[in-house]
Amino acid sequence: MPRGGEGYGNRALERAAALLTRGKAVALTGAGISADSGVPTFRGEDGLWRRYRPEELATPEAFQKDPGLVWEWYSWRIEMIKKARPNAGHVALAEMVKLGLVECVVTQNVDDLHERACTPCVVKLHGNIMVGRCTSCGFRVRWEDVPKGVPRCPQCGSAMRPDVVWFGEALPEEALTKAIELFSRADVALVIGTSGVVRPAADLPLITKEKGGYLIEINPEPTALTPYADVVIRERASVALPKLLDMILEALRVRGE
Ligand code: OAD
Ligand code: ZN
Repeated sequence: MPRGGEGYGNRALERAAALLTRGKAVALTGAGISADSGVPTFRGEDGLWRRYRPEELATPEAFQKDPGLVWEWYSWRIEMIKKARPNAGHVALAEMVKLGLVECVVTQNVDDLHERACTPCVVKLHGNIMVGRCTSCGFRVRWEDVPKGVPRCPQCGSAMRPDVVWFGEALPEEALTKAIELFSRADVALVIGTSGVVRPAADLPLITKEKGGYLIEINPEPTALTPYADVVIRERASVALPKLLDMILEALRVRGE
């Protein structure tokens, strides 16, 4: 399989399908996979960071200064995510995991759409927006209702925060270790809907490349990872992933698997 060239249209899909049927893949997803479920991305034209300043909302300092403001923003996002439904991209990717073609989905997303699409293996690098964590004792709660005001810990009464990674914070160790293991042993890194600028998440597919593996990118726009991609599918995830799954199923059928 030739490397380095960009591919578009059906040719790219065919090359991606061939790679995915020959080797074990791991997926890295970003906000773009949830865009067609109505969950806004961070960067780009309608991105959240165009309308809000990250340092005023997504840092430990911002929370200390004004927890009410931070919670107002998170409650709005939680409400939006609760109303959202997994799209055809989440569903097709879950199917690829069920078929054993993709070992696991490593996601930067804090929404729960991969889980709701019944993906058998999800590693959450940036935490889970549907969960609250006590700032004092670490107790965790999954929100049944969208939190109002600043929620208090049922165990110790301290303020609870969203269980997500903020700027300047470390990633959950267990998730990062598992992700590094997955990308180290993968033959293919399938990178979907991420701008590839937030580290260490963006470095993960490069581990696969360093070990001689391939990188497939699915994204309507060029990204920081495009120069490293062996196959580029310039299409929305909700369109590209079902097409890719169909091609894989057809290839397996022809081979009689
Ligand atoms: P970004 O908002 O940086 O990038 C979203 C990417 O999705 C862009 O490259 C878009 O071109 C692409 N995109 C848009 N619509 C798409 C579609 N329908 N299908 C496929 N791709 C599409 O989001 P992330 O890369 O996920 O961190 O951002 C990484 C991190 O930055 C986030 O996890 C968040 C943020 O600060 C934390 O919350 C810690
Ligand atoms: Zn507590």
